[in-house]
Formats: sequence, C-alpha cells, structure tokens
Amino acid sequence: MNAKLAEIVKYAHNPISEYDLLVEKLIKQGKEIIKLNQGDPAIFFKTPKHIIEAYKRALDEGHTNYSSIEGVSELRNKIKERYHNLYNLDFDEERVIITNGVSEAIMFLNNAYINKNDNVLILSPFYPIYIPFAKMRGARIIFDKYEEINDEWTINTERIEKIAKNKKIKYMVLINPNNPTGAVLSEDKLDEIARIAKKNNILLISDEIYDEIVYNGAKFHSISEFVDDQPYIIFNGFSKDYDATGFRLGYAIFPNKDSLSNKLLDAFIKLASLRISSNTPAQYAMAYALDDEKEHKNEIYKMRKEIEKRTNFLTEGINGIRGMHAVRPRGAFYIFASIDKKVFKVKDDKDFVYKLLIKKSLYLSPGSGFGMKDYVRFVSLAPQEILEKAINLLNEFEKGA
Ligand SMILES: Cc1ncc(COP(=O)(O)O)c(C=O)c1O
Repeated sequence: MNAKLAEIVKYAHNPISEYDLLVEKLIKQGKEIIKLNQGDPAIFFKTPKHIIEAYKRALDEGHTNYSSIEGVSELRNKIKERYHNLYNLDFDEERVIITNGVSEAIMFLNNAYINKNDNVLILSPFYPIYIPFAKMRGARIIFDKYEEINDEWTINTERIEKIAKNKKIKYMVLINPNNPTGAVLSEDKLDEIARIAKKNNILLISDEIYDEIVYNGAKFHSISEFVDDQPYIIFNGFSKDYDATGFRLGYAIFPNKDSLSNKLLDAFIKLASLRISSNTPAQYAMAYALDDEKEHKNEIYKMRKEIEKRTNFLTEGINGIRGMHAVRPRGAFYIFASIDKKVFKVKDDKDFVYKLLIKKSLYLSPGSGFGMKDYVRFVSLAPQEILEKAINLLNEFEKGA
C-alpha cells in the first residue's frame, strides 16, 4: 500500500478551526469554553421562523430529489429579483448558479480558471479559504493589505493599480463587507477597483455575502453598480443575511455576457455537474422564503440592530484592554484586533490564542490565518453577557491572572 497522500492536502487548512480538537478535549474534561471563533449566526440567532416553515413545506411537497445541476429555477428567479430590487442589477436567470455555500463557488472559481503559476490578487486580511483553494491549483498569490486609516480599515487603490500594471493578474477578490475587518468600501474605492480591473483585464470577484449586515452609518454598494462591460462574478449566499448557515446554499452570478463570463459560467456548470446538485429542499425553502420580503426585512432589521449593539459593545471592551486595539467595524460581525506581544508575553498570535484558550477557556482565531500576524479575530454574535465575560477573561489574561 502506498501511503503517500496527494501533495495538495497540505494546503487544506482552516485557521478558524485551528484548535477545535483541543477544544473538544477541554470540553470533555468539563471545561466551559466561550467560543468566539466561528461566524455562525444560526448559533446565536435562531433561523427565522418563516424560513424554517418554508423548509418544512419543501419537504412536505416532496422536494427531496436531486435538483438540476445549476439550481432550481424558482430560486434563481428569486435571486434575480433580489439583485434587481436591492441594486437595480438585471440579468437572465441563466446567469445564476446555485452552489453548496459560497465555499463551493470559491472552489469552482479556482478549478475553472487557475492553472499552475497563474497570479491572483488577494487583500489581507482575507477570508481564509480563498487561499487553500487557489494554492491547490498552483496559483501564485499576490497580497496587498488593508490599512487602518482614521479608525477605519480601507484599501490602497494606488498600490493595487501598480500591482495590476506590473503583474499579470487573473482574478482579484474583494470581500465587501469584509470578513474579518468589518470594513465597508466606499463608492469611490469600488469605482476605482472596477476601473483598475477593466483596464488590466482582471476578472473581478465580489464576495457580497454580508451585504445586508451593515451598520454604524455605513451604506453597502454592490460592485455591480460600478462595473462596465467587463467580466466579473458576484458571490453571495444564504448563510449570513438569512441566518441559515447549515442549509449550505450560496450562489454565483455572471451578470455580463462577455466571452470570459460565458466561458466561466459554462465551466462552473460542468464542475457542478460532478457533484450532481446542491441541497434541493434548502433551495425550495429559500425560494419560498424569498417570497416573503416583508418578513425578511423585519428579521434582518432586528438582527442588524442587535449585531450593531453587540459589535460596538465588544469593540469598546477590547479597546479598554491594555495591549489591544480594534477599529470599529461597519459591517459583518467580526472584530479584527491587534495584540501587543510584549504586554501579553506571547510569541505570536497563535501563541496568544492557544494560551488564552488553555488559561481562560476563551476561543478566538489567530490573525495570521487571515494574513495578518499579531492580530486576532473576534466573532461578535454572542449575547452581551457572554461578550462581557470574554472581556473580563481578556483583562485577567493581560494581568497574568
Ligand atoms: C467572506 C466569506 N465568504 C464566504 C463564506 C462561506 O460561506 P458559505 O459557504 O456558508 O456560503 C464566508 C463564511 O464565513 C465568508 O465570511
């Protein structure tokens, strides 16, 4: 028996679950762990009732078979309506493909478009799984950084333009609203990025999975409001805005009909045919649920308000701790905080997360996994009393208690 695994397995690493095995062990030993590592709203906010009812209806109606490869027409139509209503973007239903979460769309993107040594441009900090899927295809990843300016995370379009001019980039990813910084990009920045991508023949990927979760005065704009007749793909899904992570439903939209967009859409469908279909009852459930726009507006309003409150509370708490600093997020439900290694007497961010978990039973994610060392990521979804406990634990940790 040859026990040598495929080379690419070494890239399959998700820093968000870095210490999951250890956490399980600690829980078995009777420890109570506060987990602020995973961005799963359905743990802290119940999935809305109208969505649960819609899932039951889908099952009662017998939608338990495989669906078509690209997804059921009922849902693709609703997605088309959603983008029309929210962003005035119009496209044919055939330009949408339903995926098993945005995660699968990220895999399709790389399998469809990346060959060995192709350059891709990713901005740090990033949502971690963009990296392994690109690396598995042998991509060279070029990084640029978000910067903290005037207590806001933002991108440097001048530098991005230089990179785009000097390197042949195949695709560039924008995550807006951003995980893990909570940044929401301005109209100007989006406009510049769309222009840079067009000028330099870069496929633009806009991950808009948190589009309805913006607060603290921010306004979200879809990249579709700024692009021209250029190839771009929108990734979105039902995990966050619809609080239905376990449904595993996402989608990719190819709004323009240029030749690259057409080829990519075709390639996504071919790749999707290998996994037959995405979750059929979940697709019908979301199609039914999207019919009830009023209920969704009501639910997302409540969730957004609560997330704003919790995120601001936790950010303030973090900024009250010696050796930590965090910019106030304006979207999604994460806080990306810097740590002073000397103050906390740790080697690096991984050491910080490990020691905090062992000593204080608080579980965060190390910033290096998101492309920035000496930071940690907090998920701000837990109720205030849990966040308060987390802040107290961090204060004790800083004091060496
Ligand atoms: C920016 C971003 N993209 C994609 C995903 C994956 O989402 P899903 O596969 O649940 O649709 C996440 C999940 O946290 C995310 O934060």
